[in-house]
Amino acid sequence: MPRDELLQAQLPFTLREADFPGLGSLYRGKVRDNFSKGDRIVMITTDRLSAFDRVLTTVPFKGELLNSLTVFWFDKTKDVAPNHILDVPDPSVLVVRKLTPLAVEMVVRGYLTGSLWRDHQAGRGAQAYGIDLPKGLRKDEKLEKPILTPSTKEAVGKHDQPISPQELVARGTLTQKQWDAMARMTLDLFSAGQAWARKRGLILVDTKYEFGTDPQGKLWVIDEIHTPDSSRYWIAEGSEERFRKGEEQQMLDKEFFRQWLIRERNYQGEGPAPQIPDQVRAQLAGKYLELVEKLTGTAPDLNVGDTRARIEKALKAKRYL
Ligand SMILES: Nc1ncnc2c1ncn2[C@@H]1O[C@H](COP(=O)(O)OP(=O)(O)OP(=O)(O)O)[C@@H](O)[C@H]1O
Ligand SMILES: [Mg+2]
Repeated sequence: MPRDELLQAQLPFTLREADFPGLGSLYRGKVRDNFSKGDRIVMITTDRLSAFDRVLTTVPFKGELLNSLTVFWFDKTKDVAPNHILDVPDPSVLVVRKLTPLAVEMVVRGYLTGSLWRDHQAGRGAQAYGIDLPKGLRKDEKLEKPILTPSTKEAVGKHDQPISPQELVARGTLTQKQWDAMARMTLDLFSAGQAWARKRGLILVDTKYEFGTDPQGKLWVIDEIHTPDSSRYWIAEGSEERFRKGEEQQMLDKEFFRQWLIRERNYQGEGPAPQIPDQVRAQLAGKYLELVEKLTGTAPDLNVGDTRARIEKALKAKRYL
């Protein structure tokens, strides 16, 4: 089936919510439905698409595409840092070791962009993180070496706050030893991610990791890694030239949809949620598919059909249900 037709054909079969109470107690994020029971969590990546912190529509195959990226990256980096994956019973589903999350997002950045650029412009630099940046840096400039800009993980509805390692330790969120180990793993993971992305024609600009501990106190990487939901990617080709000319970088993340919303719907998160036409949903699916192909170098095997039914079958086959 031609690609456009395939993506169109899947439009009626997307997964908005995973309702499998038998899997355990549900924690619903913006994108994932997480079912926790005993010492494991079943994480189902749905096809929900959010922008400006609101769920606006579903996108064909998005769940399995994003989940396959996390699986790809965790597999690639398993010797760099231990991760929580136990099983992948379905392309949209992870079964993970339930750990005690540490309440910090380990953000790591290779370039001066996004919120850090805004802070820098406002004269605050990276002081909130205990870092002195050189004065004359420009927007999107490559940093001499990657920097850690952690933030606290606040309760739902509250904004995460920038914080320095010293403060994290002083507050007792982490021990110094944990910080040191997490900092090292974060930089190693980021460096592995950047090197791979570069080979594939992409720049991994920044990303964030989360860590958890087991009862023995061992640190594990949890959550998702190097997905477009947790990372910023730019197209490598022409990137230096764009920087020199002061042009915007070409993003390979959710920016495409954000800009469509602003341009076509005058929507920036306020007021009633706009309708998203099927054509745009299918186009977005194409974007996610391109990203996965570009990064992994292989075409995922996508099959039209009811996503919920497929997942249920896979979970039953492996006795999770
Ligand atoms: N192995 C694990 N053990 C325990 N908790 C985990 C593990 N992996 C991830 N988590 C936690 O599970 C939750 C997953 O939530 P999810 O990502 O679906 O939504 P969210 O982070 O609240 O919001 P968003 O949709 O913006 O990401 C996060 O709080 C994450 O820290
Ligand atoms: Mg999350």
